[in-house]
Amino acid sequence: MKIFLDTADAKEIKEFAPTGLVDGVTTNPSLAAKTGRDYVEVLEEICSYVSGSVSAEVLALDYDGMMAQGKRFAKIAKNITIKVPLTWDGLKACKALSGDGLMVNVTLCFSPIQAMVAAKAGATFISPFIGRVDDMGADGIGLIREIRAIYDNYDFKTQILAASIRNLSHVREAALAGADVGTMPVSVFKALLNHPLTDKGIEGFMADAKKAGVKISGV
Ligand code: E4P
Repeated sequence: MKIFLDTADAKEIKEFAPTGLVDGVTTNPSLAAKTGRDYVEVLEEICSYVSGSVSAEVLALDYDGMMAQGKRFAKIAKNITIKVPLTWDGLKACKALSGDGLMVNVTLCFSPIQAMVAAKAGATFISPFIGRVDDMGADGIGLIREIRAIYDNYDFKTQILAASIRNLSHVREAALAGADVGTMPVSVFKALLNHPLTDKGIEGFMADAKKAGVKISGV
C-alpha cells in the first residue's frame, strides 16, 4: 500500500520526505486553512519535496469554477492531482480533466456506488473517508472492502485511497482490505514503526553488547 501524508503543513512534509516512505500527499481546504498561507504557494513548496501525487482540492462547486481552479493547480507541477467533490459537477470536471491527461482524486466518498460512478468518470483516485464513516457508527473498512470488490469485478483502474485514517488499526485494516493508498496524518505516520517489543529488543541487545564490550572493528 502506498503511504500518503494527509497534511498541508510543508514543514512536516519536508521533515518526513527523506524517509523515502512518503509516496504522496493529500490536502483539503480545511488543512489549507490551518496553514494561514496562500494555497498555491503551499502546494508549490510541497511539490518541491515530494515527487508522487500531491492532491490539491478545488474550492468551487460549479463545473466551470472547478475546471478553472483545477487547471490553475495543474500548472504548479506535474505531480499535482486535482481533487474534486463527489457531485455531478465534480464528476463532470473529473471526466474532462482526466480526459486532458490530468490526475484526479474524487473526494468525500461514503458509498460503494459513489465509488463505482467516480471510476466510470475516469477518477485516478477515489477517497473513501473511513474515519468519518466509523464516526457515524457504520463500517469504514467495510466500505473499502466493497469498493475493492466492485473495482476488481469490473477491472476499474481507479486507485482506492483510504482517507480520514485516524489510527494504526485503520492502516492495517485498509491494507488488508486491498486499499491502494492510505493517507494519514503525521501523528499516525510517526506511529507506523511503534511496537513495544522492538523497543525492548533494542534495549536488551544494547545492554548485552555493552556488558560484554562487543565492538565493531574497522568503523
Ligand atoms: C484526505 O484526502 C481527506 O480530506 C482527509 O483524510 C479527511 O480526513 P478527516 O476526516 O480527518 O478530516
